[in-house]
Amino acid sequence: MMNEKAKWIEGIPHTSYMEVPENFIRLDLAVNKHEPSPKVTASIRNNLGKISSYPDTNWSVLVKKIAEYAGVKEREVLITNGLEEAIDIITRAFADKDDRVLMLTPTYSQFHIAAMRQKAKPISIGLIEERGFEIPIENVREIVKKENVKLLWLCNPNNPTGTVFDKNILASLVEGLGCIIVMDECFYEFCGETFVNQLGKFNNVIILRSFSKSFGLAGIRLGYIISNEGIIDGLIRLRQPSSVNILVQFAALAALEDLGYYKGVWKKIVEERENLGSELKALGFTVFGSGTNFLYVKTDDAKQVFEKLWDNNIFVFPSWDPEFVGGGDKCLRILAGLPEESKKLMEALKVMREAVS
Ligand SMILES: Cc1ncc(COP(=O)(O)O)c(C=O)c1O
Repeated sequence: MMNEKAKWIEGIPHTSYMEVPENFIRLDLAVNKHEPSPKVTASIRNNLGKISSYPDTNWSVLVKKIAEYAGVKEREVLITNGLEEAIDIITRAFADKDDRVLMLTPTYSQFHIAAMRQKAKPISIGLIEERGFEIPIENVREIVKKENVKLLWLCNPNNPTGTVFDKNILASLVEGLGCIIVMDECFYEFCGETFVNQLGKFNNVIILRSFSKSFGLAGIRLGYIISNEGIIDGLIRLRQPSSVNILVQFAALAALEDLGYYKGVWKKIVEERENLGSELKALGFTVFGSGTNFLYVKTDDAKQVFEKLWDNNIFVFPSWDPEFVGGGDKCLRILAGLPEESKKLMEALKVMREAVS
């Protein structure tokens, strides 16, 4: 018998990954399709013998390396089982039942879902699309005050729009806001923009980073939270002691020791994103500026384009998927994948556009 709590959880929207046939070109998930560094795979292989042990719950070696990479102190870092765990912990720490949790839409759904799990009240304000998904600063300030918002999520660059927010605008927004502000920098390495260097000026800002996208380790799960020592010290208590698995420590250490390799991968992804963006624009699609590994593309016939691509064995992410909050029905999020995948995508889109012209 399901208990009352579990029944309530049933009502939560969840990401409904569709069953996608094996032979499809998948440009839906924002993953990194490039090969991992050979040093990373070797490190995982060499440490397979350790899987019967529990992971070291201090994670001192990994935390030290991540702190160095991020340019912060070790005590300002908390590692998590991907950012999904980080989002959950932060929501549990700062939002109680009925507390308002604010996000700027369209955005990543886990902010909303974590709030619902906590029985808090997720509320949203739309980014201003006509101004390249600008943050309506005054509106945010007003709502934070009026609704006594406890937690504000800012996804920078934003998923699914790809928008990189100006750091001066972010600083002026954060100034004087009386709530916890979380900046999700999951896609940081594809744009290089970060709020980390401004962290010292504020005592209410938390930054999130992940190894899923830039280091292509989505399947073995590692994220990290950066904030002041007080906040990190509180959050540590909410994490399951062994939530980060033993193999990812070695994989992440090897990845950070082979940064040159990954910088090469990020350059290729950014080039692919820019080339694909130009080609899509040339076909008449509206393509928004992106600092991620995907593009947010608008077209009035998004539903038909989505379906026709599916018929061509290509899967792109529709903005109306529950993965996003407030995505509307006119956009597609398309991964800048491998060059041969972009080529197949463009061939299918060209045939489609020629058929209607
Ligand atoms: C903005 C954003 N934050 C967090 C996550 C989750 O990251 P992780 O794989 O580290 O759990 C994603 C995944 O797509 C994301 O887009």
